[in-house]
Amino acid sequence: MADARKRVAVLISGRGSNMAALIAAASQESFPAEIALVLSNRADAVGLDHARAQGVSATAVDRRKYASKAEMEARFDAALREAGIELICLAGYMQLLSATFVKAWRDRMLNIHPSLLPLFPGLDTHARALQAGVKLHGATVHFVRTEMDTGPIVAQGAVPVIPGDTPDTLAARVLEVEHRLYPMALGLVASGRVTVTGDIVQIDGAPADPNAAILSPPDQG
Ligand code: GRF
Repeated sequence: MADARKRVAVLISGRGSNMAALIAAASQESFPAEIALVLSNRADAVGLDHARAQGVSATAVDRRKYASKAEMEARFDAALREAGIELICLAGYMQLLSATFVKAWRDRMLNIHPSLLPLFPGLDTHARALQAGVKLHGATVHFVRTEMDTGPIVAQGAVPVIPGDTPDTLAARVLEVEHRLYPMALGLVASGRVTVTGDIVQIDGAPADPNAAILSPPDQG
């Protein structure tokens, strides 16, 4: 039913390619969420124009116009409530949100991070993955908690690390997975199939294939 779709806001700071993937997924009427609002902490975020071109209301809230981060976040919160937002997706939102804001949206705010958490929280994940010599890397969608890049994991996507990879080639491979993973994870949450118990997410009716191992390098057999 169209009116049962969850109203979602996407928070961005820059390019917004994950935001674009979420908007594209939500343009399907069968998708259980609609992207009702895009907010940015930067007026020059490229993603704002794309959102507007897709008919999504998009607003920049400039931190410098507010006396404190708390006041800026109060503005965010007001915009979110005015728009009747039920879920938030952080998508390349590069400002740490306060504990007050995070608690207000507990279990209703998702983030996408470009690593297989809990490995490599923070910045420069692809360079750090190469340096660590991991053979699998990827992306994680998780509920947001006050500590950066922590919180119950909803979904992960893995890619192989290939000999000769640079941080850029690896980032591009991970980004393709992000664009599939985030809409899928949001769809699961918005359809009410996700339950959070402590640090663990349970997904109703998720198919489980115990033989679906990903080997990197592939089996030489
Ligand atoms: C993505 O790699 C995301 O995982 C990370 O920041 C990047 C944002 O890219 N949090 P985009 O703005 O969605 O293109």
